[in-house]
Amino acid sequence: MEIERDGLCWCGSGLAYEDCHRGFDEKWEEMRRKGFTMPARSLIKNPKQIESIRESAKINIAVLDYVAEHIGEGTTTGQIDQWVYHQTTSRGAIPAPLNYNGFPKSVCTSVNEEVCHGIPSDEVILKSGDIVNVDASTVYKGFFSDSSRMFMIGQVSEEKRRLVQVARECVEKGLRAVKPWGFLGDMAQAVYDHARANGYSVVRQIGGHGIGLAFHESPWVGYVGRRGSGMVMAPGMVFTIEPMINMGRSAVFQDEANGWTIYTRDGMPSAQWEIQVAVTEQGAEVLSD
Ligand code: MF3
Ligand code: CO
Repeated sequence: MEIERDGLCWCGSGLAYEDCHRGFDEKWEEMRRKGFTMPARSLIKNPKQIESIRESAKINIAVLDYVAEHIGEGTTTGQIDQWVYHQTTSRGAIPAPLNYNGFPKSVCTSVNEEVCHGIPSDEVILKSGDIVNVDASTVYKGFFSDSSRMFMIGQVSEEKRRLVQVARECVEKGLRAVKPWGFLGDMAQAVYDHARANGYSVVRQIGGHGIGLAFHESPWVGYVGRRGSGMVMAPGMVFTIEPMINMGRSAVFQDEANGWTIYTRDGMPSAQWEIQVAVTEQGAEVLSD
């Protein structure tokens, strides 16, 4: 451990190390010695950075609120893309997906058996009975936010409603398992157990991520894991909880033609909610939902 007791804290807070992350470093070092997987310092945000992420997240939330107020039967996913672009840019922010690794649109829209990363299109017209995930991500003054919600269009079958509801509960259970100096596996198992208890499966190949100074930071956040395992959740970490819950089997495949969209292999519906959380000294703060 570096000794920086006389100087300023490494987190960039401007505070004396002694009054800032000294206690953190002691706990961190104690857990590292026990052999746990520890987050690098680069993943620890200081309060100023968290505040900036919060500002970005407020825009992301407003964008999703706008979608919630306007979506319905007959909406095309291309329209949703237009709404997200305008709602984001009119607030001085940029939609993070646009041109991200070549992604062509401002938002991901994933309908029914589409698991995630669906590409909006004027040809995709939402109809009664559809369930759709709208996944919005925002860059504001260099800080990133990311959250997604499910929307139910018109008359949705009881079994699809239940899937959407349980997927939401999975995120809530995961959130309750986020505690300082706990493990990502605590959160993963909480999500996984709730999905399984309801007869659903959890996608393994795609997960959440650290986020804040970049769209996708370390760590990768899976939802199939064991309590007490995985990376330690230290105060100042910011990551997403975004499990994809399948009505049928967990297997998925990628659209070869567009290189993005993920579908369930069995063609059964999938649901996903995403929140962005910061680990705090007391527990967790939801930044974006
Ligand atoms: N919000 C999505 C995620 O974190 C974004 C995927 S990248 C995109 O998984 F380019 F498709 F937006
Ligand atoms: Co995400």
